[in-house]
Amino acid sequence: MFDLIIRNGKVIDGTGNAWFYGDVAVQGEKIVEVGRLSTQAAKRVIDASGLVVAPGFIDSHSHSDSNLLNNGRAASKIYQGVTTEVIGQCGTSAAPRAAGEGEDEAAAKDARWTSMDDYLNLLTEQGVAVNVIPLIGHGNLRRIVMGMANRQATPAELEAMCQLAELAMQQGAFGFSSGLIYPPSAYAGTAELIEIAKTVAAYGGIYATHMRNEGNRLMESVKEALTIGEQAGIPVHISHHKATGEANWGKVRESLALIDAQRAAGQDITLDQYPYIASSTGLRSIIPQWAHADGPEAMRQRLLDPDTGARIREEMQASQRRWDAIVVSRCFLEENKQFEGKNLEEIGAMTGQAPLEAAISLLLAEDFRTRMVRFSMCEEDVEYVMRHPLVMIGSDSGALTAGPGAQGKPHPRAYGTFPRVLGHYVRERQVLTLEEAIRKMTGLAAARFQLWDRGLLRPGCYADITIFDPETIRDEATFTDPHRYATGIHYVLVNGQLALEQGEQTEVLAGQVLRRQRP
Ligand code: ZN
Ligand code: CU
Repeated sequence: MFDLIIRNGKVIDGTGNAWFYGDVAVQGEKIVEVGRLSTQAAKRVIDASGLVVAPGFIDSHSHSDSNLLNNGRAASKIYQGVTTEVIGQCGTSAAPRAAGEGEDEAAAKDARWTSMDDYLNLLTEQGVAVNVIPLIGHGNLRRIVMGMANRQATPAELEAMCQLAELAMQQGAFGFSSGLIYPPSAYAGTAELIEIAKTVAAYGGIYATHMRNEGNRLMESVKEALTIGEQAGIPVHISHHKATGEANWGKVRESLALIDAQRAAGQDITLDQYPYIASSTGLRSIIPQWAHADGPEAMRQRLLDPDTGARIREEMQASQRRWDAIVVSRCFLEENKQFEGKNLEEIGAMTGQAPLEAAISLLLAEDFRTRMVRFSMCEEDVEYVMRHPLVMIGSDSGALTAGPGAQGKPHPRAYGTFPRVLGHYVRERQVLTLEEAIRKMTGLAAARFQLWDRGLLRPGCYADITIFDPETIRDEATFTDPHRYATGIHYVLVNGQLALEQGEQTEVLAGQVLRRQRP
């Protein structure tokens, strides 16, 4: 007598193998049988006729670090069929951090944690709907040791960063991430990253990177990531691969060709991607990196200083941004909510300013917290990157909750990433087979993060299972109406428990906060 049998579904096991009709039996938190189980009984049966039964999706690039502390339900992810999130990306993680400090202001005031160990314990105590895989943000290490200083680390500072990385690895991190467009991570040279990577590599971790440049200097940036991998002997994972800016469209062919060549030569490299032509980050990233030095107050003074302010504006102007391609997605002051969903040209027209000046005014008023969505990629590139066998799927977003409290017009990827791949790119565009898309969402990511008992439908694996209708699954979230859960997912099991039942999220918080087991 099993706890659960999922009967008659098309089983897609996460390896990339072709689907087959079969039943999946669950006992406790594990999958115990896969195959024809018609003579077996269970306490509960789910009829999956007409549906696909797949491993739960692994969001290989998530920013749920503080989201999960605020709300462990991870609703926008559960509604996508996501059962595991890899957090601590783009150089920023919730932990480790200095007391009272952190990227997120609200979270910074939270005194309950400083170390990775504290943070993971806290998540465990509170409960989470999804499994969590933590990475260490390189920016955190630098912030703790050097604040927002715009200079190279001294040998003693580098040693201190390596020690922090070592401790967090001992406490269960799976690797570290850099965010080389975001100060203070951006202030590090290649040599610093290599040294920290060596420490992380000694513990079997990986190096994930938001590269220094994804536009004009895309190729140099890929080369830097590969150099760090080579010199430190660490597996490299390139985050949200893309080419930004019209002049650079098509360069992903070159970058992926280089990665293929390096792999052929024996270097271990993988990538992730979100399925949209727009990116999203803090609006402050349009300000030159040097101007961020020493923190927000120093940046404010530089912007207000006539000479330095003029220099900043010149550099911003010279970067030839299309101001109408930058949409303000989240404001924090009531009087600025009117700008959410408007691009910088529109905001300029509303406030009687040039777009650049409108952006600066907004940033100053909001203590640089304003967020943006930026349309910078092309569909051909998105599809080309998606077809590459080393590319997995990552939302690049934290989990959100739709409904009355939902704020702003965030990038729809928070709600739509995985169903968009399965609905738009698999069913409508036929960019991938269903089996290959599922592999990118499950088995490939599990292998990358060394989750040997997840990401596949196999006896002995944890029962993280997503059951969906391949004919109807779709992302409902759009850029203008983003707070909408995806549809077409019927059931989601996390560690054997139903996190989503007949299309509705349950109250269950069965996620496990995972710590890398040291070899
Ligand atoms: Zn990033
Ligand atoms: Cu990211």
